[in-house]
Amino acid sequence: LWQLLPRPKSQPPLVWHWIPFLGSAATYGRDPIGFFRQCREKYGNCFTFILLGKRVTVTLGTRGNDYVLGGKHTQLAAEDVYSPLTTPVFGKDVVYDCPNEKLMEQKRFVKVSLTIDKFRAYVGMIEDEIKGYLETDPKFRVYQMDDINEWGAFPVLEVFSEMTILTASRTLQGREIRERLTKDYAQVYHDLDHGFTPLHWMIPNLPLPSYRKRDAAQAKMSAFYQSILRHRREHPEEHQDDDVMASLMKQRYRDGTPLRDHEIAHILIALLMAGQHTSSSSLAWTMLHIADRQDIQEALYEEQVKHFGTPDGGLRDITYDELRDLKVLDAVVRETLRLHPPIHSIMRMAHEDIPVPATLAAPSEDVTYVVPKGDIVMASPIVSQLDPTVWENAETWEPLRWYDDKGVAAQAHKQYNEGEKIDFGFGLVSKGTVSPYLPFGAGRHRCIGEQFAYLQISTAICALIRRLELKLEGNFPKSDYESMMVQPLPCKILYRRRKFD
Ligand code: HEM
Repeated sequence: LWQLLPRPKSQPPLVWHWIPFLGSAATYGRDPIGFFRQCREKYGNCFTFILLGKRVTVTLGTRGNDYVLGGKHTQLAAEDVYSPLTTPVFGKDVVYDCPNEKLMEQKRFVKVSLTIDKFRAYVGMIEDEIKGYLETDPKFRVYQMDDINEWGAFPVLEVFSEMTILTASRTLQGREIRERLTKDYAQVYHDLDHGFTPLHWMIPNLPLPSYRKRDAAQAKMSAFYQSILRHRREHPEEHQDDDVMASLMKQRYRDGTPLRDHEIAHILIALLMAGQHTSSSSLAWTMLHIADRQDIQEALYEEQVKHFGTPDGGLRDITYDELRDLKVLDAVVRETLRLHPPIHSIMRMAHEDIPVPATLAAPSEDVTYVVPKGDIVMASPIVSQLDPTVWENAETWEPLRWYDDKGVAAQAHKQYNEGEKIDFGFGLVSKGTVSPYLPFGAGRHRCIGEQFAYLQISTAICALIRRLELKLEGNFPKSDYESMMVQPLPCKILYRRRKFD
């Protein structure tokens, strides 16, 4: 009944719901994109819905992305929304458990260790890990047999999740940590990962085993990193490592203080978690589309032969600099991130009443909406990434759109980034917050792992496509919105070994 009472015109429309506290939680949780589209049709680009007792105001479209991602952090704070999920998993004093200025410094420290020189070395390590995995993991039994004509099937989610953790830990975390993390600490990682779910976010503390295991795992993981840090300090002669930990040990905050051991440990945990689900679901979606589209699979393989083929019919090692020239590969990753960006909702907390620009949404010419202090504000770049008024055949996975002569996607992009140089070479598309394509976010909280993720995913695709032919088993899987990131529902890919190997 309360919903029927007249409300101030300046308040964005409230999405109708039957159950007071739950609000639209079930509809949003099951299919957020469908929910946003329905609401957009009914209420326009700005509306409010109830999510487990909280008011959430959504702003859609390119202007909506800009409103949230380009907002001042004094008005729109990320930490208030994300901290209940991330602090129990990452640990104290990092990321969203510290003032925003400190997070900005921490992001800068990590960026220092994500340089092109490092990337050059990472390519070989990633290929090595994938090769080793195919040769030893029981899920690739058929690959390991002599008969190259036989087809096998592997479970998509498990395989790409394992490949991602192996390649990320080997490169970002260094060989020493990679070895121990995947052997002695596999269960600890598993328990920590199981505390990184929507339920743990909505209700950060419950007397349930998964919560106890999460907290114990965080303490163990933190102690594990800190023991390595101590050892490195006490025995510098034994450690010539050039990994992220070594780089963080040398950094200083602006006031001159070094990072404390637990901060370094917690930043490393944060990097592990931030990159794991995002990269593994992106890799899984990409490989599923490649398995589904034989023409693109062939084009990818031919691109490998063209760039890396040797006179004896083999393929030489991939290099970072050459990877950047592979147009089909780049388009395949870019198009997958358009259709399946792993993060569907980006959130902030309004610290004051904030007017909504009339160009985004307004009830009438003389009244503008105001988002009230205390609302969660939400953008969903995937809605503009699938907008049929921006993209031709928006729902179809069509990598060609990124590099065909017409440059359809380039046109769409240019429209929103007038004057900005577009680098279609590798990764990066836009730095601005007004864009219809923002899989890595934008503005202050923009992803720092973009270039690394691109490198990791692209190298993994090369390593796989060189060795395997792929086909889909059954229909193309639907999206699972109930996990932390948008990932495919459980499914399998059929594979057969290529002759090259
Ligand atoms: C932030 C996406 C991989 C570390 C973000 C944001 C998005 C995103 C959308 C913005 C979140 C917001 O504004 O609230 C992705 C995707 C990835 C990926 C699609 C892979 C395909 C990685 C990797 C790392 C990483 C590999 C670490 C090496 C971070 C960090 C932030 C971030 C530290 C900043 C958080 C902040 O400032 O609040 N990412 N990410 N990401 N990402 Fe990524």
